[in-house]
Amino acid sequence: MTFDEAKNEVKALSEKINYHNELYYQKSESVITDFEFDQLLEKLIALENQFPELKLEDSPSQRVGGTITKEFDSVVHKYPMLSLGNTYSQEELRDFDGRVAKGLEGQDYEYFCELKFDGVALSLTYENGVLKRAVTRGDGTQGDDITANAKTIRSIPLKLKAAVPAEFEVRGEAFFPLKEFERVNNEREDIGEEKLANPRNSASGTLKMQDSSVVASRKLDCYLYYLLGKDLNYPTHATAIEAIESWGFKVSPTYKQCATIEEVLNYINHWEEKRHELHVETDGIVIKVNDLSQQEQLGFTAKSPRWAISYKYKAESATTVLESISYQVGRTGSVTPVANLKPVLLAGTTVKRASLHNANEIARLDVRIGDTVHVEKGGEIIPKITTVEISSRSHDSEPVEYISNCPECDTMLIRQEGEANHYCPNVEGCPPQILGRIDHFIQRKAMDIDKLGPETIRGLLDNGLIRNYADLYDLTYEQLNGLEFTTYSDKKEDYAVRSLREKSAGNVVKAIEESKAVPFERVLFALGIRFVGKTVAEKLAEHFISIDNLMSAPFETLIEVPEIGDRIAQSVIDFFEDSKNRGIVEKLRASGVQLVSEKKEAVIEGNTLDGKTFVISGVFAQFSRDELKDKIKANGGKVVSSISGKLDYLVAGDKMGPSKLEKATKLNINVISEADFLDMI
Ligand code: IVH
Repeated sequence: MTFDEAKNEVKALSEKINYHNELYYQKSESVITDFEFDQLLEKLIALENQFPELKLEDSPSQRVGGTITKEFDSVVHKYPMLSLGNTYSQEELRDFDGRVAKGLEGQDYEYFCELKFDGVALSLTYENGVLKRAVTRGDGTQGDDITANAKTIRSIPLKLKAAVPAEFEVRGEAFFPLKEFERVNNEREDIGEEKLANPRNSASGTLKMQDSSVVASRKLDCYLYYLLGKDLNYPTHATAIEAIESWGFKVSPTYKQCATIEEVLNYINHWEEKRHELHVETDGIVIKVNDLSQQEQLGFTAKSPRWAISYKYKAESATTVLESISYQVGRTGSVTPVANLKPVLLAGTTVKRASLHNANEIARLDVRIGDTVHVEKGGEIIPKITTVEISSRSHDSEPVEYISNCPECDTMLIRQEGEANHYCPNVEGCPPQILGRIDHFIQRKAMDIDKLGPETIRGLLDNGLIRNYADLYDLTYEQLNGLEFTTYSDKKEDYAVRSLREKSAGNVVKAIEESKAVPFERVLFALGIRFVGKTVAEKLAEHFISIDNLMSAPFETLIEVPEIGDRIAQSVIDFFEDSKNRGIVEKLRASGVQLVSEKKEAVIEGNTLDGKTFVISGVFAQFSRDELKDKIKANGGKVVSSISGKLDYLVAGDKMGPSKLEKATKLNINVISEADFLDMI
């Protein structure tokens, strides 16, 4: 391809990608499949690598990241980023309204209400329609230039198509969508990483990461709510918001114009409960005087505008007593302190525990045993302690002394430089670590022997029948039948001795036997190599085909695999360098566990489905889902995962979700049955 041809191709591809991106991220519509979209992007990246001069700052390839920023430049804000005054009650809000009325000396005025998104404030500067800079709030006067990271947020336009002012700034809130937060945390759990504590702090931490490809993998989002610039001439905040929305910025549709403070109060009441249904955390609402000349008239105090205020919803909180702290040891040996609380009712559930994260958090809160504490439920999985009633503390209380030895095996804990958590280094002998690895191995996503359950595993370990997961393959029905194990209640004092019944023993033996057919990529995930989650295991298995190839791969070869970075590569090397792990692998091999990818020979049966795309959904009478997929491929068709306007067929089985059918009908997709499909081939 000549340079000029490449130039045209880059332009065409960029336009196409931008078009689909905008459709998807601003209007939630898709007319091509994810697969087709990724292919366009890959093509563009390949061309830009071939012709680096063609890589523009507004190229959609920036979305996937890859830039490393060692230190963020500090940028002085053109207009300071002020904060908002807070109100917590109707009275305070009416006082604010009174001050506005007084300041406007009898003029009519109205309000514009928005939700207060709990994320990270961002300032975006555009010049001639191109995103030039993204800066955090910092101290309000100057913040960090995080442009490379912000570019990975798909809903932030890199280049605007509309006719826009030559220079302007928009501000908004970047946030971690709750579903995405959950997805990332599930993935972290899989690889034995500490879970992210909450969406807000994680969004902020993510935007300050040095490697923008990690930022890209977290799929943050951004709502914009403020337009600034010289001579923009919009009469009201509402018209400015309408303008930025029409230029392609994402604006939350939750705003409302309110003529009176009563209407504002209605808005507040409306969202008090409803806000929990949104995919973003909110902690209140923001009330702004709508007319911009009136805003100017009202002006600012040193810290915040007089024309706007926030109303904070009361966080659901409760007061209780910290009775003790226990320490949990995870699969990787990381220690997490947990607060045991006097049971208290909070947001409809009884709370007995709260996370304390690590030693730093205990020190930060200065929380002590016996203290009266306030607990809140935020985006966290379990509640957190927000503050301590120092005034009601007894004088003989003492600061918490963090444990120095493992609560499970008494080994001295270590804390690596730069890490917040303590670790128990006794990988081989620490019971929860041994149990955790086996638990990970047997889970459904891995070897699918989860009929065993943690208590039976403990029983097997206690009885000396197994020492690691490879030993599971030696177990016999006779050993399992009648096996005694102990079940513990919440408090460790209450326990009961049970035994495995004939039927369960039979099921376990069968599940262990069946697990020998589990494909290599899942076995690789099951091994529990740090940082090797499900997706990484799939990538490694696809690339190396067998465990032997993987075990002998040097660092340089490992990092050549797409998506495998230094950290994962080193972890793989460390794992296989350990002779005990190699012994376990050999034992698995001898037991007949799959350590080679089953290279499926592509079967070709015909070409009747050439070029046609299929989504399959539900369960089928004659085929398993995988068999149906193979059948489609064998006849020239392609299976895709999401329904889009370009999809040819939806093959509908039993128990198909109603939303899929609805979407397909709306997009006029051919919905066919299993029998229709068989007719086609
Ligand atoms: S307007 C001059 N609107 O709240 C005030 N802020 O306490 C400009 N925030 O730093 C801010 N949602 O990070 C505004 N709809 C919204 C908001 C919002 C969240 C945050 C923002 C700001 C902080 C002020």
